[in-house]
Amino acid sequence: MTAGDLGATEDFGLKLREIADQVTVALDRLIPPAAGPEIDLMRAMRHGALGGGKRLRPFLVIETGRLFGAPERALLRAGCALECVHAYSLIHDDLPCMDDDELRHGQPTVHKAFGEATAVLAGDALLTLAFEILTALETHPDSSVRCKLVGKLAVSAGARGMVGGQKIDMAPPPEDDDQMLSHLARMQRMKTGALIGCAVEFGSILGGARENERQALNGFAHDLGLAYQIKDDLLDIHGNVEELGKAVAKDKEAGKKNFVSLLGEDGAIDRIEMLASQAKAHLGMFGEKGNVLSRTVDFVLERRY
Ligand code: IPE
Ligand code: IPE
Ligand code: MG
Ligand code: MG
Ligand code: MG
Repeated sequence: MTAGDLGATEDFGLKLREIADQVTVALDRLIPPAAGPEIDLMRAMRHGALGGGKRLRPFLVIETGRLFGAPERALLRAGCALECVHAYSLIHDDLPCMDDDELRHGQPTVHKAFGEATAVLAGDALLTLAFEILTALETHPDSSVRCKLVGKLAVSAGARGMVGGQKIDMAPPPEDDDQMLSHLARMQRMKTGALIGCAVEFGSILGGARENERQALNGFAHDLGLAYQIKDDLLDIHGNVEELGKAVAKDKEAGKKNFVSLLGEDGAIDRIEMLASQAKAHLGMFGEKGNVLSRTVDFVLERRY
């Protein structure tokens, strides 16, 4: 790596943290304050949504929208809505009936801190808060734009997207090994790829992208999303708890089938590299303006948390 590359990496890290801080401040205002007899519900929502995370999905919303000069406030609010859905997905993913995890973002998971029933409700409330944010006039003055955002999030988060992928993750894998790769690819694209795709679509919707630009960005997100989850699966093997803030070696212990168990570690790394170069190729039409999204691909490859 040259000194110039190192500078670019540092700049990217700063940019990511800067947006993450903005998202945390905005979410703090959007999530109801903890008060009243339901106080633990708000505390649990805050614990799940404000306690950390890279904020990659809002970052993608904002940086995609910036390609087209979309209004910053709209991008931040749409990014926060998507992050509420992501935070809810993690709260539910960690429950004993799913991955049964005790640590997230270096803190006890929401059900460990507040109990299972409150964790389920906090996830539910974050999901509906996402739609409350998107439908508010402050997000965009044009109701047809707000409606597009709502429709996109609903499909991406639901049975044809994240939730469907989570169900496939829990279902028995196909017996026929030939079908395994396509089965896994479909699962990963739904459970993780759908929200990453939604991030880029939010940027396109708010920026008024043309159809060819939207298609290119969707291609980028498609490859990035799959690479992101394969990297997550690799980090389960090679990551460390302090950096990741969550338990490691869980997938292998649980006998989870994923790209790493199927292709081996080297095969999984090759696959991520192939997806990364495909993802970058989709950005060609944006020239220099696409550099931040292109660096996001490098971040996904190199990330240790
Ligand atoms: C974790 O996502 C679960 C996956 C879908 C891979 P992130 O790594 O983006 O979660 P944060 O950064 O901790 O919120
Ligand atoms: C979860 O995938 C993806 C979601 C939709 C929440 P994982 O179960 O691999 O995520 P981690 O490793 O717990 O963050
Ligand atoms: Mg899981
Ligand atoms: Mg999990
Ligand atoms: Mg994982």
